[in-house]
Parts: sequence; structure tokens; C-alpha cells
Amino acid sequence: MCGIVGYVGPKIATPLLLEGLKRLEYRGYDSAGVAIMNGAGVETVKEAGKIAKLELLLDATPVTGTTGIAHTRWATHGPPNQVNAHPHMSQDGSVAVVHNGIIENATVLKQMLQGRGYVFRSDTDTEVLAHLIEECFDGNLEDAVLEALLQVEGTYGIAVISSVDTHKIVAARKGSPLLLGLGENEYFIASDVSAILAHTRQVVYLEDGEMAVLDAGGYRVIDMDAVEITKNVAHIDWDLAQIERGGFSHFMLKEIFEQPQTVEQTMRGRLLDDEGTSKLGGLNLSDEELLSFTNIVITACGTSWHSALIGEHMLEELARIPVEVEYASEFRYRNPVVDEKTLCIVISQSGETADTLAAMREAKRRGARTLGIVNSVGSTIARESDGGIYIHAGPEIGVASTKAFTSQVVALLLFTLKLGRLRGMSQERGQEIIAGMRALPQHIQTILDRAQEIEDIAEEYKRASNFLYLGRGYNFPVALEGALKLKEISYIHAEGYPAAEMKHGPIALIDEMMPVVFIATHDAVFEKITSNVHEVKARKGRVIAVTSRDEDALEGLLDYEFRVPETSDLLMPILASVPLQLLAYYIAVKRGANVDQPRNLAKSVTVE
Ligand code: F6R
Repeated sequence: MCGIVGYVGPKIATPLLLEGLKRLEYRGYDSAGVAIMNGAGVETVKEAGKIAKLELLLDATPVTGTTGIAHTRWATHGPPNQVNAHPHMSQDGSVAVVHNGIIENATVLKQMLQGRGYVFRSDTDTEVLAHLIEECFDGNLEDAVLEALLQVEGTYGIAVISSVDTHKIVAARKGSPLLLGLGENEYFIASDVSAILAHTRQVVYLEDGEMAVLDAGGYRVIDMDAVEITKNVAHIDWDLAQIERGGFSHFMLKEIFEQPQTVEQTMRGRLLDDEGTSKLGGLNLSDEELLSFTNIVITACGTSWHSALIGEHMLEELARIPVEVEYASEFRYRNPVVDEKTLCIVISQSGETADTLAAMREAKRRGARTLGIVNSVGSTIARESDGGIYIHAGPEIGVASTKAFTSQVVALLLFTLKLGRLRGMSQERGQEIIAGMRALPQHIQTILDRAQEIEDIAEEYKRASNFLYLGRGYNFPVALEGALKLKEISYIHAEGYPAAEMKHGPIALIDEMMPVVFIATHDAVFEKITSNVHEVKARKGRVIAVTSRDEDALEGLLDYEFRVPETSDLLMPILASVPLQLLAYYIAVKRGANVDQPRNLAKSVTVE
């Protein structure tokens, strides 16, 4: 989704801004632009399409200056063309604005500004802000931004420069992430830490309702009443290598192959083998408090929602507590039964997903205790939740989530161990699960070592127009996740179903053209899924199965089989999802799709 980067300091801004924009490419965008103080005034250069096109323009007509802001846009208001790309200039060309989020009262403000003679050039809500800041300007940029924002409804992360009050950037946040990067006599503003990581690891996160003023001499943070706020400086542990491809052809492939390590990182230092439980320092909950909850609600979107479904299964089985899983976007708009006896677990890789954040705030408002299972350290959900479990998977750049998913499931299992042991699960059961968890990294590695087998299957099915994914029990969410991965990056229509549901409708689709992926590992429901395989085969469907042992019952029924190591039922989703990630990846690559930046998708969905 849209990205912001800004620089003020002694260096020429353009290359730094372009580098930052490229680091934000993974978030998804359809146009890009920069605005730079060139000595005489603010100059903007912007272009539809890839950053490489913008770079060509800037090579042809360089813009020099040491203060600038830049943006990657993911279209919401108006098509992705050059005019709608950010930065947007005010009428007299003195103010340039980049903006993430949505100005909800843009129409009313636009009418008001048109009444005062402002002429609009783009279809965007952001242009309203540029004119409004000009309208409020009286010599001081932060005062003008402050006054303008008081009239704005909606969400924003903005960065603004002015040709009158020069050599400073004013930034403000409400509902859309922004952070300051602190260098040596130079300062950055960014919507995502990866944009500035090459230059500094010292950051200050802005909270909603805060505004920052940066110049080469320092920075100040104030609230909307202009009262100065003292902020903590955070240190980012990630290094540059983690946000680079490291020899892999795509970030997605790199991240799939990182899973032996990332799963290990999620568990590191948290397993108590002897007691058969886990140690989770960030929960901020005593055992008594954990025992006081009567129910759990887990809320998330997309892939994170799939991991939530696995968490529901684990928690109900082992901790014997009622669990409900809700799409965050639905949760916030109904009237859920949530109170102070409810523990609300919020799962988000980015920690910035607008719907998930709003659902968490709603749960809090109703008195629930909130727990974030988050990857991005310092993200809004991580900061606003009452406690949490970082999954420590490292930066996930590929738009299709892979390593975050497996680590989320591990984090949910860590929490299940903790709660389960408190609520009567035996020590032996806990020890058994931990032994299985410890073997996961090695098991994942054995799957990755056989990636070629999956690539061969992908070659066979790369031209399919539809896919069905079927699984039962713990593997039903794996079917959903396998289908989501395929549709996101290959654009093949794919559906996931609980295998037995197939006969209630989807079976009508089955013919010799329909590949059906079964997750048919040896578990409590294996016999049941065998009959579903028969049903597909009887209708000439093509069966690709993820299995875990040589099964007589499947003899002669499978067109392709991929064997994963045996593990317990509740750990199987972690292993079974890996070949499905690879299948989606190889099919997409063979179809020539842009795997890391699939069309229309954004890495972090920061608008509702
Ligand atoms: C799928 C995918 C999305 C995200 C969803 C939630 O591959 O990446 O479905 O899972 O947008 O994002 P987070 O986890 O960042 O809240």
C-alpha cells in the first residue's frame, strides 16, 4: 500500500528518496513521485507505473536539493496515472504533500476550497490537503498543517514541504503509520522502517494525533494542541541483508526457504521442555489473569485469519476454552459478545492492517484484554495491544505471506501450551508437543530440499484455470491458505473447502480439467478424507495429494503425491503448508507473473 519517505540533511535528497522508494516497492503501488526543494522552489517529478520510470525521468532532468519527500501510491481515489500520483502541490506551488490514508470529508472541503478559487487538477483526496495547507499558511508550515488537519476527517500519514518555510519537513499521523529516522545531522521520515534502514536504525514512532517537525538540526514532536512531546528512541534490530534477496530470484522464495530458521526463531528461548509448557514474557498477564478468561476471540485478516483458525482448533482441543475466529473487518461492524472476561487475540504480520487495528480497538473499548501476535516490531498493533507475542520471523517483503504464517501458527501453539497447562493439560502431553516442535525446523528443511518435485507438479498444472484445495480438521485452514497463495500470485481461480463440504456444491465443478489438491496426511480424519479422494477420482478430477506416509487406501488414486515428514496432527499445518507455498510460487513464476508484487495487492492494507 502507499509508502512515504522524506529526507532533510546535508546530502542530495534525490538518490536517497529513490532508494527509499525502491525499498517500499514490495508494499504494492501503481505510481510514484518526489518533491524536492531545489533552491528556487519546490519541484515535483512523478510518473505512473514502476519507480524505474520515475528514475529515468530524474536521470533526464535531475532535481537537486537537500530536502525532499517521496511517495509510492496505491490508487484509492482516481486511476493510477501521472496526475493522481503524489506529491500533490497547492495552487500556488508553494506546498507539496504526500499522503497515505483517506480524507473522508474531501468532497466537502473541496467544495469549500473551490468556492475560494482553488482549481483542482487531480481526482485525489490528497490534493484537498495541499490547497488547504496553502489556505492556512501564514509564514509557518507546522502551524498551517496543524490548522488544516483540524478540519480533516479520516486517516492520514502525511509529509509536507514548503518553498516559503524552507528546509524542514512537517509530518503528521492519524491512523496510518509514520516513523522518524535519526541520523547524524540528517533526519528521515518513512511509513515503513525498511525505507531508511540503510541509513539509520534509530527510530521514533509517531502515534495518532502527533506531528513532527524535522530539519537538519533536529526534530520536535508535538500534539494537535502544539504541546511538545518527549518521545522514546527505538533501536531496530533488523539488518539490511534481511530486506534484500540474498541470491534468491524472489523475496517470496527466499522467505519460503527461511522457514527452518524463522520457525526456530519463534520458539527460541520460549519452550520449557521439562514442564511441558512455554515462557512468554510479553503477555503481561499473570497465571491468575489468564485463568480468569471465559472465552477467546481471535481476529485477523487474510493469511493471518487462516492461522487464527488453526489456533482455534489447538486452543479448544488442548486448553478447553471456547474460541471464536472473526474476520477483523466483520468483527468491528457487528455487536460481538465481548467483555472483560474475553481475551482478544489479534494476529497481524505487519501490525498495521487497518481492519485488524480497528477490531482490536473495538475489543478494547468493550473491555476485552488484547494480545497481539505480530511480526513487525514497534508496529501500531504491537504498541497498542495490552500484551503480545512477537513471532520474530524477520521482515517479510514478498506480498504473499509465507514465513509469517508458519511462525504465527508456532506462536499460537506456544500460547496454547501455556494456557493448556494452566487449564489442565497434562505435562506429558505438553512434553510430547514440544518434542514435535523441536523437530519442525529439520522437517521443513527436508521438504525444501525436495522443492524440485513441486516444481515438476507446477509444470504439469501451470495452465489450469481453476484449482480446488481440500483438507479436514487441522488441515482445513491449510487448504484455505494454499488456495489463497495460488490465487494471489498466479491469478488462477482457487477455492479451499473442508473436504466433506465438497459434496454440498463444489463437486459440480469436478471434471478431468480440475486439479484438486488434497491435504491427506495421516491424522485423525485420514480415513474420512480418503472417501473424498474417491469422490473426486470417480468424477475424473486430477488429484494432487500432500501425504505423510505410504497409504494403501490411496493406492491408484493420486496423479501426484508429495510426502511430508510425519508429525502430530496439530503440527501438520506447519509442514503441509510449505509444499503448497512452493506450488503457488512455481506455478506463478511459470506463468510469468510478478510474484513479489502481484497486481492490485498491497503488503500492508492500511485503509479500510
Ligand atoms: C496473503 C496476505 C494477506 C495478509 C492480510 C493481513 O498472502 O499476505 O492476506 O495476510 O492482508 O495482513 P497482516 O497479517 O499484515 O495483518
